[in-house]
Amino acid sequence: MTREEFLRLRDFLYRKTGLYFDEKKLYFVARRVAERMEATGAGDFRRYFAELRFGPGEKELQQLINLLTVNETYFFREYAQLKCFAEEVIPLLVGARSPPVHLRVWSAGCATGEEAYTLAIILKEMTENQPEKVTAEVYATDINTAVLEVARRGCYGARAVREVPPQYLSRYFAREGDCWCVVASLKEMVKFQHLNLLDRTQIRRMRGFDAIFCRNVLIYFDDASRREVALHFYDALVPGGFIFLGHAESMSRITPIFKLRRFANALIYQK
Ligand SMILES: C[S@@+](CC[C@H](N)C(=O)[O-])C[C@H]1O[C@@H](n2cnc3c(N)ncnc32)[C@H](O)[C@@H]1O
Repeated sequence: MTREEFLRLRDFLYRKTGLYFDEKKLYFVARRVAERMEATGAGDFRRYFAELRFGPGEKELQQLINLLTVNETYFFREYAQLKCFAEEVIPLLVGARSPPVHLRVWSAGCATGEEAYTLAIILKEMTENQPEKVTAEVYATDINTAVLEVARRGCYGARAVREVPPQYLSRYFAREGDCWCVVASLKEMVKFQHLNLLDRTQIRRMRGFDAIFCRNVLIYFDDASRREVALHFYDALVPGGFIFLGHAESMSRITPIFKLRRFANALIYQK
Protein backbone atom coordinates (compact mmCIF):
# COMPACT_ATOMS: atom_id res chain seq x y z
CA MET A 1 0.00 0.00 0.00
CA THR A 2 1.41 3.39 -0.93
CA ARG A 3 1.34 6.32 1.50
CA GLU A 4 -1.37 7.99 -0.62
CA GLU A 5 -3.52 4.87 -0.53
CA PHE A 6 -3.03 4.61 3.21
CA LEU A 7 -4.16 8.22 3.70
CA ARG A 8 -7.30 7.73 1.58
CA LEU A 9 -8.20 4.60 3.50
CA ARG A 10 -7.35 6.22 6.84
CA ASP A 11 -9.64 9.20 6.16
CA PHE A 12 -12.45 6.93 5.02
CA LEU A 13 -12.18 4.74 8.15
CA TYR A 14 -12.05 7.83 10.33
CA ARG A 15 -15.27 9.21 8.86
CA LYS A 16 -17.00 5.85 9.28
CA THR A 17 -15.79 4.82 12.73
CA GLY A 18 -13.99 7.66 14.51
CA LEU A 19 -10.91 5.40 14.66
CA TYR A 20 -7.83 7.40 13.79
CA PHE A 21 -4.68 5.73 12.48
CA ASP A 22 -1.64 7.97 12.33
CA GLU A 23 1.16 7.26 9.88
CA LYS A 24 3.02 5.13 12.42
CA LYS A 25 0.17 2.63 11.99
CA LEU A 26 0.73 2.27 8.22
CA TYR A 27 2.31 -1.17 8.55
CA PHE A 28 -0.38 -2.40 10.98
CA VAL A 29 -3.16 -1.28 8.60
CA ALA A 30 -1.37 -2.44 5.43
CA ARG A 31 -0.91 -5.96 6.81
CA ARG A 32 -4.62 -6.30 7.56
CA VAL A 33 -5.65 -4.83 4.22
CA ALA A 34 -3.33 -7.31 2.46
CA GLU A 35 -5.01 -10.15 4.38
CA ARG A 36 -8.48 -8.99 3.29
CA MET A 37 -7.36 -8.38 -0.32
CA GLU A 38 -6.13 -11.96 -0.43
CA ALA A 39 -9.37 -13.30 1.11
CA THR A 40 -11.60 -11.33 -1.27
CA GLY A 41 -9.48 -11.81 -4.38
CA ALA A 42 -9.43 -8.05 -5.05
CA GLY A 43 -6.37 -7.80 -7.29
CA ASP A 44 -5.30 -4.27 -6.37
CA PHE A 45 -5.93 -1.58 -3.78
CA ARG A 46 -8.23 0.46 -6.07
CA ARG A 47 -10.62 -2.48 -6.44
CA TYR A 48 -10.47 -3.34 -2.76
CA PHE A 49 -11.15 0.28 -1.75
CA ALA A 50 -14.17 0.37 -4.11
CA GLU A 51 -15.49 -2.80 -2.43
CA LEU A 52 -15.06 -1.17 0.99
CA ARG A 53 -16.95 1.94 -0.05
CA PHE A 54 -19.67 0.56 -2.26
CA GLY A 55 -19.86 -3.17 -1.47
CA PRO A 56 -23.33 -4.48 -0.54
CA GLY A 57 -24.33 -3.98 3.09
CA GLU A 58 -20.84 -2.67 3.94
CA LYS A 59 -19.90 -6.32 4.51
CA GLU A 60 -16.25 -5.94 3.57
CA LEU A 61 -15.94 -2.77 5.61
CA GLN A 62 -17.17 -4.74 8.63
CA GLN A 63 -14.58 -7.49 7.99
CA LEU A 64 -11.79 -4.93 7.91
CA ILE A 65 -13.07 -3.15 11.04
CA ASN A 66 -13.06 -6.52 12.83
CA LEU A 67 -9.33 -6.80 12.06
CA LEU A 68 -8.42 -3.21 12.91
CA THR A 69 -9.98 -2.72 16.35
CA VAL A 70 -8.03 -3.46 19.54
CA ASN A 71 -10.16 -5.67 21.76
CA GLU A 72 -7.97 -6.28 24.81
CA THR A 73 -10.11 -6.66 27.97
CA TYR A 74 -10.58 -8.85 31.06
CA PHE A 75 -12.98 -9.34 33.96
CA PHE A 76 -12.81 -6.87 36.86
CA ARG A 77 -10.47 -4.52 34.98
CA GLU A 78 -9.66 -1.38 37.02
CA TYR A 79 -10.86 -2.79 40.29
CA ALA A 80 -10.85 0.48 42.30
CA GLN A 81 -13.26 2.09 39.88
CA LEU A 82 -15.57 -0.94 39.98
CA LYS A 83 -15.44 -0.84 43.78
CA CYS A 84 -16.54 2.79 43.57
CA PHE A 85 -19.42 1.80 41.28
CA ALA A 86 -20.47 -1.01 43.63
CA GLU A 87 -20.13 0.67 46.99
CA GLU A 88 -20.74 4.33 46.26
CA VAL A 89 -22.49 4.90 42.94
CA ILE A 90 -25.10 2.12 43.03
CA PRO A 91 -26.33 3.10 46.54
CA LEU A 92 -26.55 6.73 45.34
CA LEU A 93 -28.57 5.78 42.28
CA VAL A 94 -30.90 3.50 44.23
CA GLY A 95 -31.29 5.97 47.11
CA ALA A 96 -32.29 8.79 44.75
CA ARG A 97 -35.49 7.02 43.63
CA SER A 98 -38.54 5.48 45.15
CA PRO A 99 -38.90 1.71 44.64
CA PRO A 100 -39.22 -0.26 42.48
CA VAL A 101 -35.91 0.85 40.98
CA HIS A 102 -34.66 -0.45 37.64
CA LEU A 103 -31.02 0.34 36.88
CA ARG A 104 -29.81 0.50 33.27
CA VAL A 105 -26.08 0.36 32.61
CA TRP A 106 -24.30 0.56 29.24
CA SER A 107 -20.93 -0.98 28.44
CA ALA A 108 -19.99 1.03 25.33
CA GLY A 109 -17.13 -0.68 23.47
CA CYS A 110 -17.63 -3.96 25.34
CA ALA A 111 -15.23 -6.04 23.18
CA THR A 112 -15.61 -9.74 24.09
CA GLY A 113 -18.02 -9.00 26.94
CA GLU A 114 -15.90 -9.26 30.10
CA GLU A 115 -16.72 -5.72 31.22
CA ALA A 116 -20.48 -6.21 30.68
CA TYR A 117 -20.59 -9.48 32.63
CA THR A 118 -18.46 -7.92 35.37
CA LEU A 119 -21.03 -5.13 35.70
CA ALA A 120 -23.82 -7.72 35.79
CA ILE A 121 -22.06 -9.57 38.65
CA ILE A 122 -21.65 -6.32 40.59
CA LEU A 123 -25.25 -5.27 40.00
CA LYS A 124 -26.50 -8.70 41.10
CA GLU A 125 -24.35 -8.68 44.22
CA MET A 126 -25.31 -5.15 45.20
CA THR A 127 -29.03 -5.30 44.50
CA GLU A 128 -30.18 -8.87 45.18
CA ASN A 129 -30.65 -8.49 48.91
CA GLN A 130 -32.05 -4.97 48.87
CA PRO A 131 -35.15 -4.60 51.00
CA GLU A 132 -36.73 -2.41 48.33
CA LYS A 133 -37.21 -3.94 44.88
CA VAL A 134 -34.17 -3.23 42.69
CA THR A 135 -33.60 -4.79 39.28
CA ALA A 136 -30.88 -4.11 36.73
CA GLU A 137 -29.88 -4.73 33.14
CA VAL A 138 -26.71 -4.18 31.13
CA TYR A 139 -26.56 -3.09 27.49
CA ALA A 140 -23.29 -3.95 25.84
CA THR A 141 -22.31 -2.67 22.41
CA ASP A 142 -19.35 -2.81 20.06
CA ILE A 143 -18.52 -2.00 16.45
CA ASN A 144 -16.73 -5.34 15.97
CA THR A 145 -19.13 -8.18 15.09
CA ALA A 146 -16.56 -10.95 15.75
CA VAL A 147 -16.03 -9.95 19.39
CA LEU A 148 -19.79 -9.73 19.93
CA GLU A 149 -20.11 -13.39 18.92
CA VAL A 150 -17.56 -14.34 21.58
CA ALA A 151 -19.39 -12.13 24.09
CA ARG A 152 -22.74 -13.80 23.43
CA ARG A 153 -21.16 -17.24 23.88
CA GLY A 154 -19.82 -16.13 27.28
CA CYS A 155 -16.98 -18.69 27.60
CA TYR A 156 -13.51 -17.49 28.57
CA GLY A 157 -9.99 -18.76 29.12
CA ALA A 158 -8.07 -18.56 32.39
CA ARG A 159 -6.37 -15.26 31.40
CA ALA A 160 -9.67 -13.40 31.09
CA VAL A 161 -10.91 -14.49 34.53
CA ARG A 162 -7.60 -14.09 36.37
CA GLU A 163 -8.86 -11.16 38.46
CA VAL A 164 -12.31 -12.51 39.27
CA PRO A 165 -12.60 -12.88 43.07
CA PRO A 166 -12.77 -16.65 43.85
CA GLN A 167 -16.24 -16.48 45.43
CA TYR A 168 -17.63 -14.91 42.22
CA LEU A 169 -15.81 -17.40 40.03
CA SER A 170 -17.61 -20.28 41.72
CA ARG A 171 -20.97 -18.46 41.87
CA TYR A 172 -21.18 -17.04 38.35
CA PHE A 173 -19.10 -19.39 36.15
CA ALA A 174 -19.33 -23.04 35.17
CA ARG A 175 -16.15 -24.89 34.21
CA GLU A 176 -16.31 -26.43 30.73
CA GLY A 177 -12.98 -28.07 29.88
CA ASP A 178 -10.40 -25.26 29.79
CA CYS A 179 -13.09 -22.58 29.73
CA TRP A 180 -15.03 -20.62 32.28
CA CYS A 181 -18.59 -20.01 31.05
CA VAL A 182 -20.91 -17.42 32.60
CA VAL A 183 -24.09 -18.87 34.10
CA ALA A 184 -27.49 -18.35 32.47
CA SER A 185 -28.78 -15.96 35.16
CA LEU A 186 -25.92 -13.58 34.31
CA LYS A 187 -26.37 -13.92 30.55
CA GLU A 188 -30.03 -12.99 30.91
CA MET A 189 -29.07 -9.63 32.38
CA VAL A 190 -26.87 -8.60 29.45
CA LYS A 191 -28.04 -7.57 25.97
CA PHE A 192 -25.31 -7.41 23.33
CA GLN A 193 -25.82 -5.23 20.29
CA HIS A 194 -23.78 -4.13 17.29
CA LEU A 195 -23.35 -0.36 17.50
CA ASN A 196 -20.94 2.15 16.04
CA LEU A 197 -20.50 5.01 18.51
CA LEU A 198 -20.09 7.39 15.57
CA ASP A 199 -23.36 6.35 13.91
CA ARG A 200 -25.75 9.16 14.86
CA THR A 201 -28.91 7.21 14.02
CA GLN A 202 -27.92 4.21 16.14
CA ILE A 203 -26.62 6.17 19.09
CA ARG A 204 -29.67 8.45 19.32
CA ARG A 205 -31.72 5.37 20.23
CA MET A 206 -29.61 4.82 23.36
CA ARG A 207 -31.45 6.67 26.11
CA GLY A 208 -32.26 6.44 29.82
CA PHE A 209 -29.00 5.01 31.21
CA ASP A 210 -28.00 5.43 34.86
CA ALA A 211 -24.35 4.72 34.13
CA ILE A 212 -22.18 4.35 31.04
CA PHE A 213 -18.84 2.56 31.04
CA CYS A 214 -16.77 3.60 28.04
CA ARG A 215 -13.32 2.52 29.13
CA ASN A 216 -10.29 2.20 26.89
CA VAL A 217 -12.29 3.06 23.77
CA LEU A 218 -11.91 6.82 23.28
CA ILE A 219 -8.11 6.46 23.31
CA TYR A 220 -8.40 5.24 19.71
CA PHE A 221 -10.36 8.35 18.60
CA ASP A 222 -9.19 11.88 17.85
CA ASP A 223 -10.49 14.91 19.78
CA ALA A 224 -13.36 15.73 17.41
CA SER A 225 -14.79 12.19 17.56
CA ARG A 226 -14.30 12.02 21.33
CA ARG A 227 -16.31 15.23 21.72
CA GLU A 228 -19.09 13.96 19.46
CA VAL A 229 -19.37 10.68 21.38
CA ALA A 230 -19.23 12.46 24.76
CA LEU A 231 -22.18 14.68 23.76
CA HIS A 232 -24.15 11.60 22.72
CA PHE A 233 -23.37 10.01 26.09
CA TYR A 234 -24.69 13.11 27.80
CA ASP A 235 -28.03 12.68 26.04
CA ALA A 236 -28.05 8.93 26.75
CA LEU A 237 -27.75 9.45 30.53
CA VAL A 238 -30.59 10.22 32.92
CA PRO A 239 -30.07 13.44 34.92
CA GLY A 240 -27.48 12.64 37.60
CA GLY A 241 -26.23 9.61 35.61
CA PHE A 242 -22.54 8.64 35.74
CA ILE A 243 -19.89 8.04 33.11
CA PHE A 244 -16.83 5.88 33.72
CA LEU A 245 -13.76 6.25 31.50
CA GLY A 246 -10.48 4.32 31.51
CA HIS A 247 -7.83 5.49 33.98
CA ALA A 248 -5.78 7.15 31.22
CA GLU A 249 -8.79 9.05 29.83
CA SER A 250 -10.17 12.40 30.93
CA MET A 251 -13.61 13.80 30.15
CA SER A 252 -12.59 17.29 31.32
CA ARG A 253 -10.13 17.43 28.41
CA ILE A 254 -12.94 16.53 25.99
CA THR A 255 -15.84 18.68 27.22
CA PRO A 256 -16.80 20.61 30.38
CA ILE A 257 -20.46 19.45 30.38
CA PHE A 258 -19.93 16.70 32.98
CA LYS A 259 -19.20 17.38 36.66
CA LEU A 260 -16.18 15.63 38.17
CA ARG A 261 -17.19 13.77 41.36
CA ARG A 262 -14.53 12.74 43.86
CA PHE A 263 -15.39 9.42 45.55
CA ALA A 264 -13.26 7.46 48.04
CA ASN A 265 -12.09 4.96 45.40
CA ALA A 266 -12.17 6.90 42.12
CA LEU A 267 -12.95 10.09 40.21
CA ILE A 268 -16.15 9.76 38.18
CA TYR A 269 -17.99 12.11 35.82
CA GLN A 270 -21.65 12.92 36.39
CA LYS A 271 -24.35 14.52 34.24
C1 LIG B 1 -9.74 -2.06 24.22
S1 LIG B 1 -11.41 -2.50 23.98
C2 LIG B 1 -12.11 -1.99 25.55
C3 LIG B 1 -12.95 -3.07 26.19
C4 LIG B 1 -13.51 -2.73 27.56
N1 LIG B 1 -14.30 -1.53 27.52
C5 LIG B 1 -12.40 -2.61 28.59
O1 LIG B 1 -12.08 -1.49 29.01
O2 LIG B 1 -11.84 -3.62 28.98
C6 LIG B 1 -11.99 -1.24 22.86
C7 LIG B 1 -13.28 -1.64 22.11
O3 LIG B 1 -13.86 -0.48 21.50
C8 LIG B 1 -14.46 -0.89 20.30
N2 LIG B 1 -14.66 0.26 19.39
C9 LIG B 1 -13.72 0.97 18.74
N3 LIG B 1 -14.30 1.91 17.97
C10 LIG B 1 -15.63 1.81 18.15
C11 LIG B 1 -16.77 2.50 17.62
N4 LIG B 1 -16.63 3.50 16.73
N5 LIG B 1 -17.99 2.12 18.04
C12 LIG B 1 -18.13 1.11 18.92
N6 LIG B 1 -17.11 0.41 19.46
C13 LIG B 1 -15.87 0.76 19.08
C14 LIG B 1 -13.47 -1.91 19.74
O4 LIG B 1 -14.04 -2.75 18.78
C15 LIG B 1 -13.01 -2.64 21.01
O5 LIG B 1 -13.71 -3.83 21.21
